[in-house]
Amino acid sequence: MAAPTAYDEVDYPGWPYPQSHPDRLATLARLFGMAPADPARCRVLELGCGDGANLLPVAGAWPQARIVGIDLAASAIARGRAAAEALGLANLDLRCGDLGSLPDDLGEFDYVIAHGVYSWIPAPLRRALLEACRRFLAPQGVAYVSYNVYPGGHLRAMLREMLLMHIEDVAGPDRRCAAAREFLAWVADAQPDGQPDAARSALALEARRLAKRSDGSLFHDDLSGTFHLCYFRDFCAEADAHGLQFLAEADFFEMQDQDLPPAARERLAAFAPDLVAREQYLDFLKERRFRQTLLCRSEVPLRSELRGDAVWELSVSSAAEPEIPGVELPSREEQRYRGRGGAAFSTGEPLLKVALDELRREWPRALPMSELLDAAAARCGLKAGAAQRALMGDFALACYAAGCVELHLRQSPFARWPGPRPRASTLAIRQARDGRNVTSLLGSMIELDDPLAPRLLPLLDGTRDRAALLRALRGDGAAVDRCLEAFGRCALLRADPPQD
Ligand SMILES: C[S@@+](CC[C@H](N)C(=O)[O-])C[C@H]1O[C@@H](n2cnc3c(N)ncnc32)[C@H](O)[C@@H]1O
Repeated sequence: MAAPTAYDEVDYPGWPYPQSHPDRLATLARLFGMAPADPARCRVLELGCGDGANLLPVAGAWPQARIVGIDLAASAIARGRAAAEALGLANLDLRCGDLGSLPDDLGEFDYVIAHGVYSWIPAPLRRALLEACRRFLAPQGVAYVSYNVYPGGHLRAMLREMLLMHIEDVAGPDRRCAAAREFLAWVADAQPDGQPDAARSALALEARRLAKRSDGSLFHDDLSGTFHLCYFRDFCAEADAHGLQFLAEADFFEMQDQDLPPAARERLAAFAPDLVAREQYLDFLKERRFRQTLLCRSEVPLRSELRGDAVWELSVSSAAEPEIPGVELPSREEQRYRGRGGAAFSTGEPLLKVALDELRREWPRALPMSELLDAAAARCGLKAGAAQRALMGDFALACYAAGCVELHLRQSPFARWPGPRPRASTLAIRQARDGRNVTSLLGSMIELDDPLAPRLLPLLDGTRDRAALLRALRGDGAAVDRCLEAFGRCALLRADPPQD
């Protein structure tokens, strides 16, 4: 029986991370010229998986995938196992263990994930983590490792040092968190009257940001004994020493320099002779504080530019909204679109405006690229030829780089619209019993803000039609329809099982 850890004393909030999802890793690997495993049949290893919250949606989506999660905290593993058992997930194996002494018979994995672990473990374990990535990664496998970086991490580390000094004589997690919150509120509110001071404003903003975290996250992430920071370049050198190379950032738009003035872009190219140096210089400018880096084996040949033709093997989804309502789609009038997270993309091309309209209606469902081309061309009264194909291919890559569309090698299955007898995600139904945050079938966190949602969700077991739902809820039809539509838009409805 392993000794209790700090994570047994104070629970860490389990969370799904779409940026570490096998579909995301596979898509980027494909675009950079690798031959990644199909997520539907892949093997996934998560190191420091906590209570398995990141793995449950992956295991649920793909029964043929084999998923292993390892964590030192026995209590977190017990919670994860209880959830996996309740959901009947035979393909999820959660084990209590130390990533510093992993068994040799663990097998080979297509995707190895370590989110929120590297920066919070001592140096020998950080090396063990990278060694495990190399040791267990299949030849075309992809590892995801997230970690704190300079220069942006300086600010967080600065506030952390102040916090630790302030609470140095305070014992016990609850009292330490309470004292830390009192200090954060003081820093946030202690702004000078009159002329704002940039440095003090930045500290106050950081204090407010930290104060929003749960006690579990504050205690483990910012009041912990280990809080490692490094430069991206040095992380890559460490990865290289373990036979791993940089593939991409999990958020591809983070690798772009489009928002720089042309002269600054030119200078960047002169300063940075290779990809790692370029990323390092971008970190300087963006004051990056956290990275979510994909690695692969050092010997894998990678393309330095995205493989444009690979987009035709992918599906695309987008929630990008037009900025000016009422612009005629078939006209050549320029329209600017805002994606999630504020990214922007402009076009006057009718085919592309229609394509974005199609995608917005289907969101979050991804359409295969050729299906999207055919649908958009048909709406424009065109036959999809080589010119349209080239236009659509360039558009998908440009929008992907701008963060306005998402690309998918294999999106997890879900039903975009409620069928006659809707069925909700069993994981979400289980989670809705304890709170408002539930995991979508795509592996992202959804907050249920409609008061009807927690009552409706458990009724969606595939046995009730709309009339039966209305009877059970004694509710108004419009409210139920609205809630069902929202469930579809949040990927909370299960797709019908395939008919053999
Ligand atoms: C900050 S939490 C992150 C949990 C989860 N990956 C997430 O991001 O929500 C760090 C996790 O690493 C685990 N951990 C720390 N040291 C470990 C070790 N030597 N071997 C395995 N797990 C470890 C902790 O128990 C904890 O669950």
